[in-house]
Amino acid sequence: MRIVMIGAGYVGLVSGACFADFGHDVICVDKDPDRLNALREGRMPIYEPGLDSLVKENSEQGRLDYTGELAKAVSQADIVFIAVGTPSRRGDGYADLSYVYGAAREIAAAVTGFTVVVTKSTVPVGTGDEVERIISETNPAAEFAVVSNPEFLREGSAIEDFKRPDRIVIGTDNEQARKMMEEVYRPLYLNASPILHMNRRTAELTKYAANAFLAMKITFINEMADLCERVGADVQDVSRGMGMDQRIGSKFLHAGPGYGGSCFPKDTLALVKTAQDADSPTRLIEATVSVNDQRKRAMARKVIRATGGKVRGKTIGILGLTFKPNTDDMRESPSISIVQALVDKGAHIKAYDPEGMHQARPLLPSQVTFCTTPYEVANQASALVIVTEWNAFRSLDLDRLKKVMASPVLIDLRNIYKPEQVRAAGFVYACIGRSDGGVPDAPEMPRAAE
Ligand code: UDX
Ligand code: UDX
Repeated sequence: MRIVMIGAGYVGLVSGACFADFGHDVICVDKDPDRLNALREGRMPIYEPGLDSLVKENSEQGRLDYTGELAKAVSQADIVFIAVGTPSRRGDGYADLSYVYGAAREIAAAVTGFTVVVTKSTVPVGTGDEVERIISETNPAAEFAVVSNPEFLREGSAIEDFKRPDRIVIGTDNEQARKMMEEVYRPLYLNASPILHMNRRTAELTKYAANAFLAMKITFINEMADLCERVGADVQDVSRGMGMDQRIGSKFLHAGPGYGGSCFPKDTLALVKTAQDADSPTRLIEATVSVNDQRKRAMARKVIRATGGKVRGKTIGILGLTFKPNTDDMRESPSISIVQALVDKGAHIKAYDPEGMHQARPLLPSQVTFCTTPYEVANQASALVIVTEWNAFRSLDLDRLKKVMASPVLIDLRNIYKPEQVRAAGFVYACIGRSDGGVPDAPEMPRAAE
């Protein structure tokens, strides 16, 4: 199959490289000349484990290429995937579909022969209909079908997610398009990855429903974590106790500073908007969005409490800036709100992230000092805050940290340390949803009747 992937970002580049690895001929189209140059020179424009070797191998074998010329690429394609971004529209939270519709117009003018146009970007219900309308109106002679095929790739393990998916969702009523999509995914089909066929609108909604549910699950455990702190319980054990119930499942029950990333925040908001417009509000998701927004700044208050109530004039060290480990992506990272809130209160911030500092710089206040190791961050710091659970932070030399810090305070927003171990090393330790042993201001229980 000759495949064109429009948008060589986190989703497009990974998907394009994986399709090439299946043996298809893939051309990635992107508007950003710097990105194209980097790819042509063998440099990855994003950090994703395993991507560089996959891209290199398939480029060398002539199955993966890059271009800025959409029309030429599309004219030779059997299948065109749209994988441009669909960020939240400024001001109102609706998905910004201008890049998707722009791509549709350009595709329309270029298609020759029967072509399947696939939306891989996350798009609100009904977007496929609009893409279809745009193509028919722009080029009434075009022979095409529009299919929804949402991605379920987690950054940091995107290649694994692509090659071993829990399921592949294909939304179309067009028989020819359905056959071609099965052909594209045939190598996975042989691996027995289930392919779910459904209509296009259902496929579009399935993606939002999956992401919103996961965001809600995280938010649920985050609220349980807050309650645990108030009543002297341990959220790690609550999570284990819940997760072993197979009806619930243990994944995405890890309490933390709130979800971030390029998907959950924008997709939950967009679903809320779609649902409100359809007169069918999704109140659980509305609550999820607002609880998660407030949580990020609440984490800064937790830091301030752990440092004795004041951070003005103090140096606070931040370990981890990206929204999760194994990516350089800073979109909607909790670190942004936390750092800003601490700077607002007069703290001086030192920070380190193994991959994200380049993307972090323009998003964080200019006063932040970027360091090259966790120990440099710790130097003269009154507290260290673990915001992202990079493996490099899991076994820090606590004695060494303590020696260089102004005061030994560790705030572990990902619960990667054992409280006893850190306290035994002489630290004040604060974490998420695990009390410090005492239950200072827990609500009193009503007395049992005599
Ligand atoms: C994707 C999806 O498209 C989004 O809907 C999903 O929810 C998350 O993943 P992502 O791959 O993360 O987005 O986006 P990004 O990394 O920003 O990549 C988009 C790429 O498309 C960029 O390289 C950009 O230069 C390119 N682009 C954008 C175009 O080539 N043309 C355009 O018109 C717009
Ligand atoms: C998500 C979806 O999982 C994926 O299927 C696709 O639709 C794109 O969006 P991604 O955003 O890359 O993937 O990361 P994910 O692993 O889902 O984590 C999202 C956020 O939730 C991160 O900030 C992470 O730290 C947080 N999280 C995740 C938790 O706080 N607790 C958990 O238990 C899991």
